[in-house]
Amino acid sequence: MKRIADIGAAVIGTGFIGTVHVEALRRIGVQVHGVLGSTPERGAARATALGVPRAYESLDDLLRDPRVEVVHVTSPNDLHLPQTLAILAAGRNVVCEKPLAMSASESRRLVDAAAAAGLVNAANFNIRFYPLNQHAHEVVTGGDIGDVRLVTGRYFQDWLLLESDWNWRLQPERGGALRAVGDIGSHWLDLMTFVTGQRVVAVMAELATFIEARREPTGPVETFSTDAAADAVTRAIATEDAATILLRFENGARGAVSISQISAGRKNSLQYEIDGSTSSIAWDSEQPDQIWLGHRERANEILIKNPALMGPAGRAAAALPGGHVEGFADTFAAHFRAVYADVAAGGPSPRPTYPTFADGHDEMLVNDAIAESGRTGRWVNVVRDPVASSTTAQEAHTS
Ligand SMILES: NC(=O)c1ccc[n+]([C@@H]2O[C@H](COP(=O)([O-])OP(=O)(O)OC[C@H]3O[C@@H](n4cnc5c(N)ncnc54)[C@H](O)[C@@H]3O)[C@@H](O)[C@H]2O)c1
Repeated sequence: MKRIADIGAAVIGTGFIGTVHVEALRRIGVQVHGVLGSTPERGAARATALGVPRAYESLDDLLRDPRVEVVHVTSPNDLHLPQTLAILAAGRNVVCEKPLAMSASESRRLVDAAAAAGLVNAANFNIRFYPLNQHAHEVVTGGDIGDVRLVTGRYFQDWLLLESDWNWRLQPERGGALRAVGDIGSHWLDLMTFVTGQRVVAVMAELATFIEARREPTGPVETFSTDAAADAVTRAIATEDAATILLRFENGARGAVSISQISAGRKNSLQYEIDGSTSSIAWDSEQPDQIWLGHRERANEILIKNPALMGPAGRAAAALPGGHVEGFADTFAAHFRAVYADVAAGGPSPRPTYPTFADGHDEMLVNDAIAESGRTGRWVNVVRDPVASSTTAQEAHTS
C-alpha cells in the first residue's frame, strides 16, 4: 500500500473545473506535477497562476513524466475519448469528467479499455459526494423509506439565458448532441441511480431549443462568463436549452425531471425528492448541508449534516463536524479520497465506492435514449449491453 503523498498526478484542462481538480488534489495530499492546457502558452500561464510546477507541451510530453500515475481529464467533452484512451494505453489511472464521452458507443470503448488495462477509472460524478447524498444512498438502499415509487426533481442554471451567452458546450461537435441534458442532466440522472440503487430503463423526453441563434464571440470565452462580447458572429443552435423527461426505473418506480440552462436566477440548483412506500427524502444543492425526511404518521425531520448522525458512507465523505457547511469544491476532495485509496492499493477494488467508467457509460446509455425520444416523440427503452449492465447493477446495489 502506497502513501497518498507519494502518488503523482497531472490535470488536463485548466479551465473552470480543472482548477477545482488541482485544488482538491492538493488538499488530499496528492502531488500535482503539472497541467496540460489547450496550448503550451495557455498551460504555462495557468500553471503559474495555480502554483503548479510545470505545464506540459503535449499529452505525449505529459505521459513521458514517470511520476504521473493518475491523469485527470477536464477538457471539453469531445477530447475525453482520445485523451483517455491514450492515458490508459500508457498505463496510467484516470479520473475523467462527465459526461464520460460524446455517445454510449464511445463510453463503451472506455469501459473496455479500462477493464483490459486493469487500471483505476473514475467518472467525476462529484455530486454523489456531498455527505448527505452518501447518507441518502444508505438510507434509501437500506430500505428506510420503503419501496422507491416516485423520483422527481430538477437541475436548473441560468448562464445560457441570453443569446449573447456562448460556450463550447453550444457546439455539438465539442459538447455532444445533447447539451443541457449531457452537461447537467447527467449529474441528476447518475445521482438518482446512485441514491435509489435503481437504473433508468425507459424515457420519454421533450427537448426544447428556445434560442435558435446565438452570438459567438470571436475571442476565447470562460465557462460561466456573463459578459457580452463586442465582436461576435451569429450561429444557429440545434441543442436543447431545456428538457422535460419522464422516467421509468427498473423496480417500477416512475420519475420526472426538468433540466434547464435558461432559468433566470437559478445559478446551479439541483433538487430531488424520492417518495417511498413508507417515507420520503429530499435534497437541494443550494442548501447542501440539510436533508428532509418526510413521514405520514409522525413529524417530518431535517437532518443537518453531522458525521456523528450519518452512516459509514456519509461519515467518510464529511471532512468537517456538524454545523460547518461543506459545498461543491469539498465533494471533489471526498470523491478523490475514495479514488486514490484504490490507486494507493494498486488497482480497482471489486466494488469501488466511487463512480466508475461503467457508471459513466450507463448514464450515456440513458442520454442516448433521451436523444432518441426527443427526436421521435416516443417512449424509448434504455438498451444495455451485457457487461456494462451487470457491472453497474452490482455497483448500484452494493456500493
Ligand atoms: N463535475 C462537475 O461538476 C463539472 C463542472 C464543470 C465542468 N465539468 C466538465 O469538465 C469538462 C471541462 O469543463 P469546464 O467547464 O472546465 O470547461 P472550460 O472551458 O472552463 O475548460 C476547458 C479546458 O480545457 C482546455 N483544453 C481545450 N482543448 C484542450 C486540449 N486539446 N488539450 C488540453 N486542454 C484543452 C481549455 O484550455 C480549458 O482550460 C467538461 O467535460 C465538463 O462537462 C464538470
